[in-house]
Amino acid sequence: MDIARQDRSIRPELEAAIGRVIDRSRFILGAEVEAFEQAFAAYCGVAHALGVGSGTDALQVALLACGIGPGDEVITVSHTSPATIAAIELTGAGAVPIDIDPRRFTMDPGRIAAACTPRTRALLPVHLYGQPADLGPILEFAARRGLPVIEDCSQAHGARYREKSVGAWGRIAAFSFYPTKNLGAYGDGGAVVTDDPQLAERARQIRQYGWDAGRVSRRKGINSRLDEIQAAILGVKLRRLEGWNAERRRLASMYDSRLTAKTLTTPYAAPDSIHVYHAYVIRHPRRDALRAHLAQRGISSAIHFSPPVHLHPGFSNLAGFSAGLPESEAAAREVLTLPLFPGMREDELQQVVDAVTAF
Ligand SMILES: Cc1ncc(COP(=O)(O)O)c(C=O)c1O
Repeated sequence: MDIARQDRSIRPELEAAIGRVIDRSRFILGAEVEAFEQAFAAYCGVAHALGVGSGTDALQVALLACGIGPGDEVITVSHTSPATIAAIELTGAGAVPIDIDPRRFTMDPGRIAAACTPRTRALLPVHLYGQPADLGPILEFAARRGLPVIEDCSQAHGARYREKSVGAWGRIAAFSFYPTKNLGAYGDGGAVVTDDPQLAERARQIRQYGWDAGRVSRRKGINSRLDEIQAAILGVKLRRLEGWNAERRRLASMYDSRLTAKTLTTPYAAPDSIHVYHAYVIRHPRRDALRAHLAQRGISSAIHFSPPVHLHPGFSNLAGFSAGLPESEAAAREVLTLPLFPGMREDELQQVVDAVTAF
């Protein structure tokens, strides 16, 4: 991804936004954060958004706001960023990863029931690569059991499931604004979004020492605040997000129609959703050899993610789930992310297609 190229046309606006913050000399939780929170909530179609320090923090704050802590279990996936599982464990709760639907790369709703125990307190699906998880059956199951759904939208800004945006379906949701995301800051950042005013207030307190408006700590909190410079940058970029997502979709459809080799699988785009291609991920049985072939031709690629989280040494506590996650482990062996970003030229895309096809 070439962020400088994507942002070239808006550089004067970004510099003006940063200059405004320096002139005002308020750097934490000020007018820029408030304005961005309002704009981002409206964009997602929810009542409340809260800027926090990262996507991991957004998940942690959302979980804590739902009252999740030691002794609780949260059902999620292992084919995700380690951040998803780390956030659950930071609350003291246990993560229970289930397998994915191999076409969609997201939580397989058919496997939730078997993973549920009396300790289950929430479901945490991840909208991976820009494609919404199959939220319908996940929400139905959650409603039957009285469980909250917490959405990890870190890779899916602007993606839609049926008629609504991701982040507007669950009880609460988390976004990351890591620089390479579809909506990225120039540093770390994240947001918690929800329609529920009580949850929003709890999350607001948790993000800053448990403080209420009078700076009295009402509960245990952390310190995770979006800073004014990042909020000002995000405000400028949010106005471009729909256009950038449309460009990602246009590039993805070019790849789809040109990558015709039978040995590879192009991304599935579910008809119930609008995929925003945070990552254009193909599957190939000889993924590592293909990756080396591309590298020799000066084409960078990436692997999102391998190994699955339960096979990282730092998450050896999850190793017991291994036997139950064959689709996650197979995906980790075969996925390859090809270059795709707003501003990518058609001749560059064709160069990637030619190199993949030659392989
Ligand atoms: C699916 C997913 N969840 C959570 C995160 C964590 O976001 P951050 O890096 O902003 O903490 C990421 C980002 O890398 C992600 O891709």
